[in-house]
Amino acid sequence: MERTFAIIKPDGVERDLIGKILERIESNGFKIVAMKRTLLSKAQAEGFYDVHKERPFFDGMTTTMSSGPVVLLVLEKENAIADWRKLMGATNPADAEAGTIRKDFAENIERNTSHGSDAPETAAFEIAFFFSQTEIHSH
Ligand code: CMP
Repeated sequence: MERTFAIIKPDGVERDLIGKILERIESNGFKIVAMKRTLLSKAQAEGFYDVHKERPFFDGMTTTMSSGPVVLLVLEKENAIADWRKLMGATNPADAEAGTIRKDFAENIERNTSHGSDAPETAAFEIAFFFSQTEIHSH
């Protein structure tokens, strides 16, 4: 069993897509083992995306991520990391395959509706950034 970290980003929450996205998560075999709806501060968004701090889009992207409430999720499934990325589709919705969350819902690369960890080390960092062990329950 593998865990990954997911976010329904501000553009998804703003457009009332929480239910639709959670439905896709559950119907694709993921267990939601932790979840919270919260508003990230700019500093939290910057800390979370620290690996991207040298990128030209860092300031805009962290401003967008702290512009409205988000839903933070820990998902569990065999192959959760790769499977969640597949369900989301390509980072840029223009490149995303039909039937993916980003193809169906995302507006552009910055307002791309969802986030997912890209590797086991990233998943461990991202889960621990927002959740304590006592907030995660497999059963
Ligand atoms: P995410 O999977 O959350 O990881 C980093 C985010 O940065 C990414 O989704 C995009 O929303 C954003 N991002 C990546 N590349 C660009 C870009 N070229 N311009 C603006 N935002 C970007």
